[in-house]
Amino acid sequence: MRDDVDAVETGGRRGIRVIVDPDTAGASAAVVRDFVRAEPRGVLGLATGSSPLGLYRVLGELTEAGEFDASGLRYVALDEYLGLPAGSAQSYRSVLEREALEPLRSDPARLAMPDPSAPDPAEEAARYDRSIAATGGVGLQILGIGRNGHIGFNEPPSPFDGRTRVVDLAESTRRDNSRFFDSVDEVPRRAVTQGIGTILEAKRLLLVARGSAKADAVAAALEGPIGEAMPASALRLHPDVTVVLDPEAAALLAVHGS
Ligand code: GLP
Repeated sequence: MRDDVDAVETGGRRGIRVIVDPDTAGASAAVVRDFVRAEPRGVLGLATGSSPLGLYRVLGELTEAGEFDASGLRYVALDEYLGLPAGSAQSYRSVLEREALEPLRSDPARLAMPDPSAPDPAEEAARYDRSIAATGGVGLQILGIGRNGHIGFNEPPSPFDGRTRVVDLAESTRRDNSRFFDSVDEVPRRAVTQGIGTILEAKRLLLVARGSAKADAVAAALEGPIGEAMPASALRLHPDVTVVLDPEAAALLAVHGS
């Protein structure tokens, strides 16, 4: 199991370290281990989607082997659907409890999330934003990227100073996420997401992307114009970002290899 980050790095993007490695799970687990060594009682921001699943699996294996200790960590979530039936297996609380907290042997009470059953979702989003700040700050926020360049559920265009709030999902996002549901009609139309401004307040960011379907968004985010039309381009405004890509997701980068 890898203990260090030694894969190919690409240069030319201030504040962003890009690692291209077929083993995105191992490379991103090394980043999380570095963080937990530095801040064993820190706050880890969790993301859903398929991209970080391998990372959680590797951290679970390390936990099982006694080589990773999450017992001091607290967690915050990036986003949550609104409007799912109570107890849905596709709620992001269910997904994160199943895919991340169980392997990390962490009590679900240590995960802060927006409550989708709150009577006033806008007020709940604002409360959640304040509760993230009240943790003392997120030490490392894990992110995926949508095919349209979204981070969390910040669909294009999204303000770079946006706070945690209720958003409408893009139809393309609903279609992409329908693979987790019986049909696209079951995919919620709204969600609560950390805003880009909230995300940028985390001390470190780790974005994981896999597969050729993400290559356009990755290239646009890292090498295209920085602006609200490409939410993930906001990462280039942050001083400490690691992007872990498999070769397919990195394929359209002009700067490829240092
Ligand atoms: C969802 C999540 C995002 C995630 C995206 C990509 O829309 N809200 O946070 O980045 O999916 O998912 P995947 O990694 O499955 O491609």
